[in-house]
Amino acid sequence: MLTTPALLGLTVVSHPLVQHKLAILRDQATPKKIFKELVDEIAMLMAYEATADLALEPAEVITPLETTTGQRVAGKKLTLVPILRAGLGMVEGILKLVPSARVGHIGLYRDHDTLEPVDYYFKVPGDAAEREFFLLDPMLATGGSAASAVASLKRAGAQRIKFLCLVAAPEGVKRLHAAHPDVPIFAASLDRELNANGYILPGLGDAGDRLFGTR
Ligand code: PRP
Ligand code: URA
Repeated sequence: MLTTPALLGLTVVSHPLVQHKLAILRDQATPKKIFKELVDEIAMLMAYEATADLALEPAEVITPLETTTGQRVAGKKLTLVPILRAGLGMVEGILKLVPSARVGHIGLYRDHDTLEPVDYYFKVPGDAAEREFFLLDPMLATGGSAASAVASLKRAGAQRIKFLCLVAAPEGVKRLHAAHPDVPIFAASLDRELNANGYILPGLGDAGDRLFGTR
């Protein structure tokens, strides 16, 4: 179940189960273990929607009774790329749905003072031009991290990229779409705004800290 708010490039996964789980995720009383499980489950449900346009190709299948033609996903394996650290929380859930997906990694953190991304790691499969990428990060705040990660993927040759996040701020959606209009953005929620420290309101706090208990 998808809705398209007025912001260009954004699709909100408005499925009732996603919205129910997101409400629990936002709750400051939700413990780390449940928080991690919910990020996993929401990511899986979002990936179900974001994979709806995957290309298929016919494939012969021999059933116990006869030969028939089934449909298989065409092309190279889908590649998941979490933005470290918090994006890691979304990987396992999507792998339950697409177990054959490859996994790359982009290491980025947001400088506390400037709010601009600082990158420290990059590794994706070599044949990037032939693959479809799902770039993963629970939070799209100023959009600096996402825009920088997409630019890194493109430098490596990637041509088909979707960005999946749980909570997006309008500021982040606008910045990412302005920098990379070819990258569709999927979110479980479009929140109201950023506060003066670049945190999303109402948001869910610091996703990395809540996932890994580093607060
Ligand atoms: C958070 C989040 C995004 C980024 C979003 O990561 O996971 O990567 O901030 O902010 P932006 O849209 O303003 O760039 P953080 O830098 O806190 O690193 P972490 O995942 O290692 O905690
Ligand atoms: N990063 C987070 O983890 N949370 C926010 O609200 C903004 C950036």
